[in-house]
Amino acid sequence: MKTIAVLTSGGDAPGMNAAIRAVVRTALDKKFTVMGIERGYSGLINGEMIPMERRSVADIIQRGGTILKTARSEEFKTENGRKKAVQMLGKFGIDSLVVIGGDGSFRGAQELSRMSIATVGIPGTIDNDLPYTDFTIGFDTAVNTVLDAINKLRDTSTSHERVSVVEVMGRNCGDIALYSGLAGGAENIILPEKGYDQDKLCKNILEEKIKGKLHNLIVLAEGIGGAEALAKKIQEVTGIEARATKLGHIQRGGSPSCMDRILASRFGYRAVELLEEGKTSRVVGIKGAKIIDLDIDEALSVPRYFDDKLYKIANALA
Ligand code: F6P
Repeated sequence: MKTIAVLTSGGDAPGMNAAIRAVVRTALDKKFTVMGIERGYSGLINGEMIPMERRSVADIIQRGGTILKTARSEEFKTENGRKKAVQMLGKFGIDSLVVIGGDGSFRGAQELSRMSIATVGIPGTIDNDLPYTDFTIGFDTAVNTVLDAINKLRDTSTSHERVSVVEVMGRNCGDIALYSGLAGGAENIILPEKGYDQDKLCKNILEEKIKGKLHNLIVLAEGIGGAEALAKKIQEVTGIEARATKLGHIQRGGSPSCMDRILASRFGYRAVELLEEGKTSRVVGIKGAKIIDLDIDEALSVPRYFDDKLYKIANALA
């Protein structure tokens, strides 16, 4: 009988719990034994394993964060750390591993699969920075969290006739900024993929103000700068009051959206199916409406994709 283990690694993302639930329940239905590994690769090295039953994942589909906890392990990046991890899997009789996480976590899974461990990756990160898949678990919820903040900031910006700069997460990926900026009707969306001209931005803000615009909402991706510095610069150059809001880790928490719960459930189910079919060293994803899977090496070498059309639409409608 197969023993499958599941772990969450890297930054947490809303919907990770729904994915854990799907992996555990699908695997149990297929009569596999399931273990949860706490604290990602760090817990794997230390043997922090817990047996998972159907009830272990009851009442978690609606919860943000991850019941398995997460970590970024420096030790696992070393050869010695990875050897310990493989030994630990052997000690607990685990033959297959499901890794839920982002790019860094997948690189860990890739290393393990090179050491003959049967792995399947489920993309879980708010950043949406894994180009082989249209969406990652947590992105939709994070965008909705940002959107809620944008709606609120618009109220106060309009009342005070101010510029509002909102800094959002995403590392080097501008997707959170692009989606929330478009959906929130932001006047300006600043992304690492596109860069921007600060003087031109200030000139536009001033021109819009003269035309009677009551507010100017700028969504700034963290990968291209800080909100504080930009707001200060805008105020200095234009003379218009500007305020900065850094949303920070609020974007990582909260109850997952319907989209994320369904995505996580589909991913978790497919991940276990793959292991049952003996297909390993793979990752699951979504393209259009279809759940896909591909080789982990291939997935990690897909070049970054930027949705220029969406950016164009956002600018045209701003
Ligand atoms: O990868 C998710 C993410 O939230 C990024 O958007 C952000 O840059 C980073 O993690 C923050 O990391 P930490 O939680 O370690 O501060």
